Amino acid sequence: MQPIDGRAKAGARRAWIEHLERDAVLEVPERLRERAEVLDQLDLHFHGSPESASGEPDLHRRASALRDRLEAVDRRLCADLRVDLCNGCGGERLLRFANGSAASGDHYDYLDDLVAGVLQLEAPGDVPDPGPDMVFYQPTPARHVFELIARTPLGADDVFVDLGSGLGHVPLLVGACSAARALGVELQAAYVERARAAATALCLDRVTFVEQDARAADFSEGTVFYLYTPFGGSILRTVLDALRAQAERRAIRICSYGPCTATVEREAWLKARTAETADRIAVFESLPG
Ligand SMILES: C[S@@+](CC[C@H](N)C(=O)[O-])C[C@H]1O[C@@H](n2cnc3c(N)ncnc32)[C@H](O)[C@@H]1O
Repeated sequence: MQPIDGRAKAGARRAWIEHLERDAVLEVPERLRERAEVLDQLDLHFHGSPESASGEPDLHRRASALRDRLEAVDRRLCADLRVDLCNGCGGERLLRFANGSAASGDHYDYLDDLVAGVLQLEAPGDVPDPGPDMVFYQPTPARHVFELIARTPLGADDVFVDLGSGLGHVPLLVGACSAARALGVELQAAYVERARAAATALCLDRVTFVEQDARAADFSEGTVFYLYTPFGGSILRTVLDALRAQAERRAIRICSYGPCTATVEREAWLKARTAETADRIAVFESLPG
């Protein structure tokens, strides 16, 4: 049944709710996308409490009960996935949710809600302002992280390094969904503390975080470096020069997202794997030194 539009009559709204109440598909944990679409529609058509609704309080109550039921399915799914991750089998299951999601654009979607529910990363209240040329924390949309994992072979010999890792969800997902070790380098202590707590809670012992300025980081173990535009100007220049020095010793890959991709793709020592744009993950390989 199609969702109703804003002008639909009361009868159509009632029929729609009745249909959803009987729809067993929505109870299947894997049907996350369908549940997200229905929850969006419920928010659109039944916002506010049933008591404050101008008409049909009974229908509002049913919509509210339905919303609670669907959100409970999502919470159980996230709790199950946390247990699976601790048992080492959650990564594959997580990746299946990402199959078929469109990977362009900078918006957030139901995959971000899933990742938030699974990783349980809480933003700290007070974080100092970033210095000049440094970018404040904003997470890479989850579908792009899943695309990065799909497009970038990451084996047991790889060390993935997120430069400016924020709350850490990129290294956490890479560690959960691949055989690689993953390291987050982040300047803000409060983010590092939470990222480490999440790795411990999810038993992701191949995922570590260091509190450090990326300019001072040790890149000698890394094989794949990720930048979601963490800084620009002279900091980006310094870090790219340090990465180029690593590439003279061994082949490395650089993945980027956002405005910094334009700078990365001008580096003569790198070759783009495909035609790269700022609104999706770009993957570069170093040329033999
Ligand atoms: C746009 S966010 C990206 C977060 C994360 N990589 C992601 O993709 O979800 C940029 C992050 O880089 C951090 N950052 C900025 N300058 C930095 C520096 N010089 N060294 C280390 N981290 C830095 C910020 O604190 C912020 O958490």
